[in-house]
Amino acid sequence: VLAGKCPFGGDRIGGTMGTPPTLADWYPDRLRVELLARSAPSANPLGADFDYPAAFAKIDLATLKDEIKGFLTSSVDWWPSDYGNYGPQMIRMAWHSAGSYRIADGRGGAGEALQRFAPIESWWDNGNIDKSRRLLWPIKAKYGASLSWADLIVLTGTCALEIMGFPTYGFAGGREDAWIADDATYWGPEVWDPHHIESFDSMTMRDKRWRGQNGDADYDLEQPLAASNQSLIYVNPEGPYGKGDPAASARDIRITFTRMAMNDEETVALIAGGHAFGKSHGMVPPDRIGAPPEMAPVEAMGLGWHNPEGTGNAEFTMTNGIEGSWTQDPTRWDNSYLENLFGHEWEQTRSPAGSLQWTPVDRQAPRTPDAHIPGKTHALMMMTSDIALKVDPVYRPICERFLTDFDYFTEQFSKAWYKLTHRDMGPRERYIGPEATIAPDLLWQDPIPERDHALIDAGDVAALKQAIGATGLSVSDLSYTALSAALPYRDSDKRGGANGARLALAPQKDWEINARTRPVIDALQGVKAEFDGKAAGGKRVSLADLIVLGGVVAVERAAADAGHAVDVPFTAGRRDTTDALTDADSFEWLRPVVDGFRNYTDPHFAEVTAGRVAPEQLFLDKAALLRLSVPEWAALTGGLRVLGANWDGGDAGVFTDRRETLTNDFFVHVTSMDHVWAKTDEAGHRFAVNDRASGEKRFDATRYDLIFGANNQLRAVSEVYAAVDGQERFVRDFVAAWDKLMTADLFGEARAHRIG
Ligand code: HEM
Repeated sequence: VLAGKCPFGGDRIGGTMGTPPTLADWYPDRLRVELLARSAPSANPLGADFDYPAAFAKIDLATLKDEIKGFLTSSVDWWPSDYGNYGPQMIRMAWHSAGSYRIADGRGGAGEALQRFAPIESWWDNGNIDKSRRLLWPIKAKYGASLSWADLIVLTGTCALEIMGFPTYGFAGGREDAWIADDATYWGPEVWDPHHIESFDSMTMRDKRWRGQNGDADYDLEQPLAASNQSLIYVNPEGPYGKGDPAASARDIRITFTRMAMNDEETVALIAGGHAFGKSHGMVPPDRIGAPPEMAPVEAMGLGWHNPEGTGNAEFTMTNGIEGSWTQDPTRWDNSYLENLFGHEWEQTRSPAGSLQWTPVDRQAPRTPDAHIPGKTHALMMMTSDIALKVDPVYRPICERFLTDFDYFTEQFSKAWYKLTHRDMGPRERYIGPEATIAPDLLWQDPIPERDHALIDAGDVAALKQAIGATGLSVSDLSYTALSAALPYRDSDKRGGANGARLALAPQKDWEINARTRPVIDALQGVKAEFDGKAAGGKRVSLADLIVLGGVVAVERAAADAGHAVDVPFTAGRRDTTDALTDADSFEWLRPVVDGFRNYTDPHFAEVTAGRVAPEQLFLDKAALLRLSVPEWAALTGGLRVLGANWDGGDAGVFTDRRETLTNDFFVHVTSMDHVWAKTDEAGHRFAVNDRASGEKRFDATRYDLIFGANNQLRAVSEVYAAVDGQERFVRDFVAAWDKLMTADLFGEARAHRIG
């Protein structure tokens, strides 16, 4: 070893895996194709075959609930319960777990317990929720893999409401935990520094995601976000910029809760209902509080926000910064939150931590007990976001109704809580457990009526395939229609999908991108009428099944024309739903701005996205929402192009002379050096594919096509399908990806009727 030189020649000097600069630092605009590998089964310590619904179904829910309820009224030294009751802090934990949901892309929400991981676990708004989860560890450990964190978090919040006298609609299990921090969700443009909490609502931080000024007609929040600020679940309790303006706070509440799919009445019910319980914590100035979990020292063992004052908990607790309780009895369900809000005038004051809050002007107003010190009492508290409910012209009458009709309020809060905590679970087939049937069908669950007739069998399927074939509908039209039925699906909240045949209902039938499907659906309705009319024993075929079967016919024909006799799998049993069971406004959120699979870009794309994202980034995002792998994404797109499944029936990306034939031609051409690729519009959305030698134009293309040759990770997959041994592999992979897409929205029993 030379003097002065490091004696280690090995691998642990300086940077290591993931040390900046990373790809994202060098090439911030690159298409992060590798994000599709995020849900790789290898990350799951339970193994890909672990059947969570079956494991959960074995739990005795009543016993589990009793155990949770017993724990809720206990207390431990390292984090004593306020008022001897962990209920309120657990309600907040569950609400924050669910409240990150946003309707634009269905991401966030309680579904995968992403609250355990960065960035969400370290958001300022989730302060001390690390303690709430840690308190639950003994129960989690006792039930092991049979009880996911995601279910336990929601269930505990619901149990908490129940022990404090609130009637719930019960709890349905079935949420499966994520195992890796979510690096795919866009949480906002700001770079948030968790150490400098004061900056989280500074002008520059907040304004990056807002357009216009609070109060302007065009005031709005960037899509797909639902929180007013990075690191908050919804709004700043002190009002925008912490200025204590209740009217401005109300406007932000309305925008953010609407993004969470809540209407005005649900919003009031949730806030007024939630704040009937517990207290806010603000005994210590925020600059004395330690780093959040993700940045805390290793000996903190995953906990953050170290509080050096006194015991650091109980009467010294510092969470948000506001201090106090809304009611005289914070562990009992009653109407005193609204009675206090409306029964008193409130004036601004500051908490010990320096946060802006409100206290009754009337010094004789009732007081609330200290959460830990017997005999001590405090003035009541309201946040600016609470006063907002009183000053807003729409929220106010809702509050007044709740104030005079406590039973009605109770029912509305109960419904809203159920929606909040089950919203992202998707269809009711996913709900498990004895309480899963307490609530009736609710419109936000996108209900589909139960089947009331016998199911088609293999013989019927064969006959129906013949009948579809006899309509004369083309491979292109049939595949396009099946695709259009299935593609709105998103795994984030399990909405959309072919089941229900909503493609034939408003609003989907009226979307420009679906215009092509209307004559096909009309023709398939004819096939259905004929079949239903003749079938014995009241047997019927659903339109939803027929649409998917049309796709099967198309893919099999296209594969046969390419020399491959393949049986495309078909799962029967989809049901049709109705206009009355379709919340059109809520489905409108599923309308695509771009759809690379169908080579579609909304005419307002540039305006909507304000140049912030490239269209192919939204294409990648959609592939992620479908949980496609990189090869599945490529195979599907390349196959759709040769089938001619473009939204306008046009030729973009149809790199073949044998249209409607399932060849690997798309990949052959997208990787070929015989072509040169030239922009044909200023925005760089459309391209001509010209012959390199003659200069003659061979094909049209879009960015959605070019990325499969331009992005080197996608190109690597395209090469596999383009090569001499690629055709067979491509057909096999395309059929598998097609089947995955067509069945993505079927769960449990609904997957059982597999034919072929
Ligand atoms: C506590 C803000 C909506 C349930 C708190 C705290 C803040 C806050 C700042 C104090 C945290 C602490 O320092 O410990 C807000 C805002 C809301 C909102 C700005 C929307 C505008 C809701 C909703 C629910 C809820 C919808 C439930 C349905 C609770 C509960 C507590 C609480 C139970 C007490 C926690 C405890 O005692 O430890 N909220 N909240 N909040 N919130 Fe909310």
